This record gives sequence, C-alpha cells and structure tokens, in this order.
Amino acid sequence: MNMPATLAELLDDAVAVLGAAGFEAPAFEARALLTGVLGLSREEMLAHPGCAIDAAARARFADALGRRAGREPLARITGQREFWSLPIGLCPDTLIPRPDSETVVEAALALVADRDEEHSILDLGTGSGCLLLALLWELPRARGLGIDRAPGALAMARDSARRLELEDRAEFRVGDWTHGLGGRFDIIVSNPPYVAEAEWAALPPEVRDFEPELALNGGPDGLAAYRALVPEIARLLAADGFAVVELGAGQHDDVAEICRNSGLFTGPVRRDLGGHPRALPLARRPVGLEKSKAKKKVGKKAIPV
Ligand SMILES: C[S@@+](CC[C@H](N)C(=O)[O-])C[C@H]1O[C@@H](n2cnc3c(N)ncnc32)[C@H](O)[C@@H]1O
Repeated sequence: MNMPATLAELLDDAVAVLGAAGFEAPAFEARALLTGVLGLSREEMLAHPGCAIDAAARARFADALGRRAGREPLARITGQREFWSLPIGLCPDTLIPRPDSETVVEAALALVADRDEEHSILDLGTGSGCLLLALLWELPRARGLGIDRAPGALAMARDSARRLELEDRAEFRVGDWTHGLGGRFDIIVSNPPYVAEAEWAALPPEVRDFEPELALNGGPDGLAAYRALVPEIARLLAADGFAVVELGAGQHDDVAEICRNSGLFTGPVRRDLGGHPRALPLARRPVGLEKSKAKKKVGKKAIPV
C-alpha cells in the first residue's frame, strides 16, 4: 500500500513536472498551485512540509498539475481570482480579471465626488462582473447593471454578487452591448474586447488557448467594440455623469478620436502599474479635472432601462 505523499513530496514532484514543461519559475508556479488547489496559505505550506495529504486531495492536485503543465492558467483551475481584493468566480465564459483593469475602478472612483451618493452604474461587457462589483463595493448606495453576451459569465457574476452580498444592488442581463437599453446612467464602465486579429497568434498560450475569444477579439484593428460602444455611451450617459473605458496597448489616440467624433470629451488617461495608458475617462462635458458635481438625490434610485 502506498503511503500518502507529504506536502514536500507533492511540491518536489510539481516543480519537476512544471520545469520539464518549460515554466521559467517552476518552484513559484508549483507553490502557487499547491496552495491554490489545496486551500492552504503559503505560511501553512512552509510550516508543515511533512504533512500527509490524503488520496482525494492528491488526485485533485494531480489533475490540476496536468492542467497547469498544459498551460491552463491557475485561476481557471481554482475557479477564482482576486480583483480589487474581492473573490471573483470564474468559468470558461469569463475572462480572468486582470490587475490592469483595477485602473478602470481607480479612475472611476477618482471622479466620484461623494461615495455616499446614489449612482446608477452600467458595465458593458461585464463578464465576471469584476468592475461592477468593485464599484458597488466602494459605493454603498450605488446600483448597477452589467450586460454581457455570454450567459455563462453572467451566472458567475450573479454568484460572485451573492457571495459578496451585493446581489440586491447588482443586476446582470444578457445583451448585445446596449441593444434595447434606455435611460441615463451616472457612471458607465467598459473593458471591451480589444485584441486586433493580427495580434492573436502572438498571444501567450495561457491567453489564446484558455480565454474566451468573445472577451478578446476586437476585430481587424482591435477597435470594433469601441466604434460600437462609444456612440452608445454618449446616448446613455447622464449630463453630469462620466464613463471610463479600458484601453489596449497603443489604442489611446484612436479611441480618443472615436470619442471626439461622438461628441464626448476625454479626460486625462490613467496609467496602469506598468506605466501604460489604461483607463480613459469620458463625459459629455470636460472631465477629469475636478470631481463629479452630481447633486444628492432623494429616494431610491432605480436603474434606468
Ligand atoms: C475584455 S472582457 C471584460 C470582462 C470584464 N469586464 C473584465 O474587465 O474582466 C469583454 C467582455 O465583453 C463581452 N462581450 C463581447 N462582445 C459583446 C457584445 N456584443 N455584447 C455584450 N458583451 C460582449 C465578452 O463576453 C466579455 O465578457
């Protein structure tokens, strides 16, 4: 009969497997996989290297190791990723939320004059719901609507909203961008698909082979979704509201021009941690130089639809 493997043995095996699979930092990857799959903290793992692992957990880990060696991202294997320090659930229809996208949340919050005001928020291409849920987390009286074409992603977003106890203020609806939507929103955010067709082949296998194409494919030049969305943002934005859209690399000037052509003002772009222009504020008036002057509203604000 085989003795149960210890944590240290599982770790050694994983480092060997991931090293052979060509990972640059196999020890780092192996530790992350072990803690993620077994639900341990890094400290627990380091403190108890001789801890015996039962057969069920070993089987789970062996399956995860095979998937990771095949370049499946860790977050896909664990089914969860932290965004804005919130646990966000994932499924095959959801893009894994990127730390860069937190720049959109930062840019939006920087334009909110009073976080205790009521705001209506629209998140176009909400996917996992990460942007909308982070904003609702920070704006306790806001209500939000997330739209996506992928029903599976919306099921995950609803689940995350429930776990964060935000479900009373978050609605998720299947839709083709803004089709059928009316009314005006105080805050609109969007991280649209922005990968150009020519860039597809050069994407790392973790992205190209495991992320949903609907979440990434921005058409021939990567700008198709902006062309569809920006005029609609102009239509749906409240007079004193603002929008923030995420940008792909090198897209700032093209997107800013699309915005100007739709009669929107662009504010100072916010850079991500890598220094890349990432989050572009938009409004129907000059935006970004001062906080939104939206007046306090009385009573419960409905989501306009
Ligand atoms: C780059 S992902 C962003 C996901 C999430 N908001 C985030 O920031 O991680 C783009 C999202 O747009 C959705 N999408 C693509 N085309 C769409 C369309 N025509 N209408 C609505 N959503 C769409 C995709 O399903 C995907 O969830």
